[in-house]
Amino acid sequence: MYNQLSITTLALLLLLLASDVAAQPGVFNIRKYGAPNGDITNALKSAWKDACASTSPSKVVVPSGWYTLQQIDLEGPCNAPIEVKVNGKILAPKNPYHLNGQDQWVRFQYINFFTLSGRGTFDGQGEMAWKQNDCGKNTNCKSLVMNFGFAFLNNSVIKDINSKDSKYFHANVFGCNNVTFTNFNINAPETSPNTDGIHIGRSTKVKIINSKIGTGDDCISLGDGSRQITVQNVTCGPGHGISVGSLGRYPNEEPVVDLTVKNCTLNNTDNGLRIKTWPGTSVVSIASHLHFEDIIMVNVTNPVFIDQEYCPWNQCSKKSPSKIKIRKVLFKNIRGTSATQEGVALVCSSGVPCEAIVLSDIDLSFNGSKVIAKCENVNPTIRRKAPICMRPHV
Ligand SMILES: *[C@@H]1O[C@H](CO)[C@@H](O)[C@H](O)[C@H]1NC(C)=O
Ligand SMILES: *[C@@H]1O[C@H](CO)[C@@H](O)[C@H](O)[C@H]1NC(C)=O
Ligand SMILES: *[C@@H]1O[C@H](CO)[C@@H](O)[C@H](O)[C@H]1NC(C)=O
Ligand SMILES: *[C@@H]1O[C@H](CO)[C@@H](O)[C@H](O)[C@H]1NC(C)=O
Ligand SMILES: *[C@@H]1O[C@H](CO)[C@@H](O)[C@H](O)[C@H]1NC(C)=O
Ligand SMILES: *[C@@H]1O[C@H](CO)[C@@H](O)[C@H](O)[C@H]1NC(C)=O
Ligand SMILES: *[C@@H]1O[C@H](CO)[C@@H](O)[C@H](O)[C@H]1NC(C)=O
Repeated sequence: MYNQLSITTLALLLLLLASDVAAQPGVFNIRKYGAPNGDITNALKSAWKDACASTSPSKVVVPSGWYTLQQIDLEGPCNAPIEVKVNGKILAPKNPYHLNGQDQWVRFQYINFFTLSGRGTFDGQGEMAWKQNDCGKNTNCKSLVMNFGFAFLNNSVIKDINSKDSKYFHANVFGCNNVTFTNFNINAPETSPNTDGIHIGRSTKVKIINSKIGTGDDCISLGDGSRQITVQNVTCGPGHGISVGSLGRYPNEEPVVDLTVKNCTLNNTDNGLRIKTWPGTSVVSIASHLHFEDIIMVNVTNPVFIDQEYCPWNQCSKKSPSKIKIRKVLFKNIRGTSATQEGVALVCSSGVPCEAIVLSDIDLSFNGSKVIAKCENVNPTIRRKAPICMRPHV
């Protein structure tokens, strides 16, 4: 009796232990592909290949543990919805030259109904690359590798994942349609160069919600061709805030239209809500229907900032004004503290002045008194309370 019971218990226990790696239909655990703790590049590739070929929904699982991963492209199209669930901590090669010369470490592309989930962390181990970054002086600077590329994804979700210490931007979203990032948390030191959180370009219906992003550069930036973008319940800081742009630097740029940024907090960032365009180029385009609402600023240097003279490191000529038209922009219910007196700066283009800019309920203070607004080439509509534009000195 006693013996039998313990044998049953033992069998049960073994079964439980084994179930972690046992075949469940549609589940492709990388441990079954010969990946103990260690490098999972080949195991992940093989698991992805099998899962992607599956004609019913499938899941690739990276269980808890520490792993290393080389540069990898996980590509569709797949035969059915596919999920990658990462609970482990995955480390990138430290040396930026050990990533096959690719500009992204982990790339997911050409997939419909893709999910990246888990509570795992992708750690770009960027410190060595940050030291080599000379992009402030050298426009052809090299060896910049992002943690993630999400390209040509449709109907996809990225949730609960952490991205840490990328060598360059953390995530680039390109050519996507209907992709939601939720509880996608990003973390890099304030001093790490160009470690932008999420950059979106040429994509439609991208949502970034319920996330925390702290880096050394922009929290979220929207490049050309960003359409129907929603950013909600996101906390940014440290970093350079939420940006539209920069726009107008490269030929054939597409418009940025229909952005909603709602219920976000910017904490100790250099900028809050910024629209930046380059002067001195012949690029003609438009940024319109941009809606910023219910935003809390905590000690932000430039909380509300339209900058049509954006020209970092003097890489441009300010002789000709920006040709990017900015219209239909609403800043509504923006509260909190500014780290400078000029809390609202609307520096629009003398060539194509801003149109239909509304300031409504802007309650920002600097050192205990209200901020002031600087306005150039714009005549904003003031609703309820907001700082009135200062008259320029003559
Ligand atoms: C994504 O949607 C676009 C537009 O409908 C389509 O052309 C493309 O093939 C889709 N991509 C995948 C991987 O399904
Ligand atoms: C967007 O993608 C999500 C996640 O796959 C899906 O549930 C939803 O139906 C898609 N929405 C549209 C309009 O296709
Ligand atoms: C807002 O995001 C935080 C995580 O950053 C989350 O804990 C909270 O539930 C979210 N709020 C709503 C209403 O979804
Ligand atoms: C708004 O943001 C605050 C602070 O992050 C959060 O606690 C709250 O749940 C959010 N509400 C919505 C509706 O997103
Ligand atoms: C701002 O960040 C600091 C730490 O950097 C934190 O202590 C504080 O609670 C944050 N404030 C808000 C409103 O999120
Ligand atoms: C506010 O921001 C300024 C400029 O970034 C910084 O020097 C100062 O320490 C910050 N104050 C607080 C209370 O965080
Ligand atoms: C803040 O206000 C106090 C008193 O109102 C003043 O003495 C101080 O110089 C101000 N600080 C700044 C940075 O303007």
